[in-house]
Amino acid sequence: MKEPKPSAPRLGSATRLAHAGRESSAHHGAVNVPLYRASTLLFPTLKAMRDRARAFTYGRKLTPTTKALAETIAELEGAEDYRHTVLAPSGLSAISCAILSVVKSGDHILVSDGVYNPTRLFCDEFLSRMGVETEYFDPAARAESLSAMFREKTALLFLESPSSLTFEMQDAGALAEVARRHRARTIMDNTWATPLFFRPLLHGADLSVQAATKYLSGHSDTLLGSVTATSAMRRALSRTHRQLGLCGPADEAYMTLRGLRTLSLRMARHQETGLALARFLESRAEISHVLHPALPSHRQHELWRRDFSGAAGLFGAVLNPVEERALSAMFDGMRLFGMGYSWGGFESLLTVAEPDRALTGEAEGVLIRIHAGLEDASDLIEDLAAGLDRLSANSNG
Ligand SMILES: Cc1ncc(COP(=O)(O)O)c(C=O)c1O
Repeated sequence: MKEPKPSAPRLGSATRLAHAGRESSAHHGAVNVPLYRASTLLFPTLKAMRDRARAFTYGRKLTPTTKALAETIAELEGAEDYRHTVLAPSGLSAISCAILSVVKSGDHILVSDGVYNPTRLFCDEFLSRMGVETEYFDPAARAESLSAMFREKTALLFLESPSSLTFEMQDAGALAEVARRHRARTIMDNTWATPLFFRPLLHGADLSVQAATKYLSGHSDTLLGSVTATSAMRRALSRTHRQLGLCGPADEAYMTLRGLRTLSLRMARHQETGLALARFLESRAEISHVLHPALPSHRQHELWRRDFSGAAGLFGAVLNPVEERALSAMFDGMRLFGMGYSWGGFESLLTVAEPDRALTGEAEGVLIRIHAGLEDASDLIEDLAAGLDRLSANSNG
């Protein structure tokens, strides 16, 4: 998208979502950049080939489709241009690419104890084989206590806020500042908020990761990841990305770009419905407490209010202790909520969450995770109410 002239008003994110990455004149007037499936890209002359004078030299590196998506994500993330964003075949491969562009053998890294479990496995198994030591910190840690954990060899701070199972918030700006003082880089997995509601690079992070599989694509049929870098980290990121042979597959890039055009509408609805469901659950006796950063009852609600401009549709709730039979009666009979290991699509999901760590200071119970989709909130509430009634009817006592 053409940058507005300095005197022009800054465009809102919904406008940017509708216009970024488009280049109709280069595509016979087509509104959407077409799906280019290309490994080989031909050059007209030997000189043009040797000079590599254009952006498109080989399909893995860039095509008009992947460029349009990278440009749109870079713009949303607040980065300078498409060269600051790389695409990867999944959110997890984007995370490993981001980490590998920072660490080297012998380093120590600090990772939030609330991270997505496969991120933890990558650190514990892959990085440890490389001679990188991972230490986990309390996902609700304050800057002062985190500062004491930095060592001479600490190269990286990895944040995920809120944690996608236990929903603790991190003060990204303050923690990234601590990392910077210790000459370490900060990466944030920002899949929950999307760059519509929080932009890590503007809060001091060096790299921002999206599992585009979730909200950016938004239709539960696509796997993709992105990493966006500050100008200081751009070259290290693209070098690692190239050396690992990563790329965003053509169809997935096209589908994600298509999904992105409606992101602002979808996120507004996910937020509204998520809050309606969370408030409903707070009113039910079967629920011990709800874990939703946008509710005043959340321990770190103020952090969310200060830094985020919205909330996703994903949140947790702790059921009072309950037997498996009662839980199955609830889950197996849901009419609208599906059971699946994902979120961010148009449909609602309900799962039992099994985090690797106990919830800080919370009473025991069964943690469930709810994804509010785009259905009518009243129908979803009815489904949840009937499910909780089944749970109670099947409980002893
Ligand atoms: C917070 C978070 N980050 C990253 C990922 C990984 O995304 P993908 O499944 O595309 O690898 C997930 C997937 O559930 C996630 O929840």
